[in-house]
Amino acid sequence: MNKAITKIDFPTETIKEGQAQVLVPKLSAFVEKPGEYAPSKAPVFYNPIMELNRDVAILALQAYQRTLKREISVCEPLAGCGVRGIRFAREVEGVKKVVINDINKKAYRLAKYNVELNGLSGRVTVKNMDANLLLAWHAAPHKRFDAVDVDPFGSPTPFMDSAIRAARDGGLLALTATDMAPLCGVHPKACMRKYGGKPLRTEYCHEIALRLVVGCAVTTAAKHEIGLTPLFSHSTDHYVRVYVALKHGAKEADDSLKKLGYILHCFSCFHRETMNKNALLGRDGKCPNCGSKMDYAGPLWLGKIADENFCTLMEKEAEKRLFKSKKRTQKILALVKAEASAPPTYYVLDKICSKTRLPVPPVRVVVETLRKEGFEALLTHFNPKGVKTDASISEMLALLKRMSESE
Ligand SMILES: C[S@@+](CC[C@H](N)C(=O)[O-])C[C@H]1O[C@@H](n2cnc3c(N)ncnc32)[C@H](O)[C@@H]1O
Ligand SMILES: [Zn+2]
Repeated sequence: MNKAITKIDFPTETIKEGQAQVLVPKLSAFVEKPGEYAPSKAPVFYNPIMELNRDVAILALQAYQRTLKREISVCEPLAGCGVRGIRFAREVEGVKKVVINDINKKAYRLAKYNVELNGLSGRVTVKNMDANLLLAWHAAPHKRFDAVDVDPFGSPTPFMDSAIRAARDGGLLALTATDMAPLCGVHPKACMRKYGGKPLRTEYCHEIALRLVVGCAVTTAAKHEIGLTPLFSHSTDHYVRVYVALKHGAKEADDSLKKLGYILHCFSCFHRETMNKNALLGRDGKCPNCGSKMDYAGPLWLGKIADENFCTLMEKEAEKRLFKSKKRTQKILALVKAEASAPPTYYVLDKICSKTRLPVPPVRVVVETLRKEGFEALLTHFNPKGVKTDASISEMLALLKRMSESE
């Protein structure tokens, strides 16, 4: 018998995820009351709901490896049962070495067992230490990883600094944030503390959340004279996930900082606009559409949320593979690619129509009509009822009124 399994003293079951077979906590054994969130009750973390997050991570890592055209090293410093790192080693071509780590002894043992179960002991190393300590050990130039995947409980900010330092020049950094209450403006003070930017409880708060995470990564990287570019990012279920390419150099850091700014929002009339820091000076904060006082979110990332060519590479990888979330993932990839360069914010039809007491038209019809009238218009992966467009709120309202009259 495998030595590691003798030390696993809680109910487990073997599951298959992607190409990996892994022993995970038997979640049903840890639920005491109906409706309890089982993954956080188990002695080792495994969340089956995050399979899509891991599927996308596989595609992003493979796309990244294809751009380098050489073997890569990867670190997953917060690994739980090890499923993500094991999948990287099994499913991504050109992965030479994976270091997975967890501070929890039981997680370490389970991950070690899973690495052996998958016959990966030669390529996957399992560590049991504080993530920041491990990453700090890898901060020296010749010790850095090609890719670092930070997938914590809640906020990635406690690990951002060391993760950025542990990735090489040109490296890939992936960050998950599940603390949507701060990021979406339910706990704004917590968001300011963690991300250094103000959130806003608007209908497009998920996009603000994603842009706050990227913005925080930009300022964190800038301290080390490192710039970054989002290659892919998405907001799905109850988390946001960003994949950024790091580029060393003061100029790169300055260029990234230039893409930070603010979103101004009018809660009275739905008007919104973006501003860089300079333009904010001297503004009276009044809505140019209705005169009400506007609120703001930021500083946050105002640049592109993804790189279209990188999305195409991910799409090609998705096409080739069989995986459980394939259909949903492909939809997310296509939508993110289409909106990669679109300006921030979107209108949510339900929200506008409920305030103005207009019927809610199908979102695709609104997009088509806007385009026919000469506006740019796109669907967004952030919200199935969301429309990204250059039409102002007055133009949008006029169009919705006309559409309701012609019904
Ligand atoms: C959300 S779980 C990881 C899930 C995993 N990435 C996956 O895809 O299944 C977060 C993990 O971080 C570990 N952790 C929390 N703080 C840590 C720290 N300071 N250093 C290392 N691991 C830590 C926890 O024990 C937990 O297993
Ligand atoms: Zn207004």
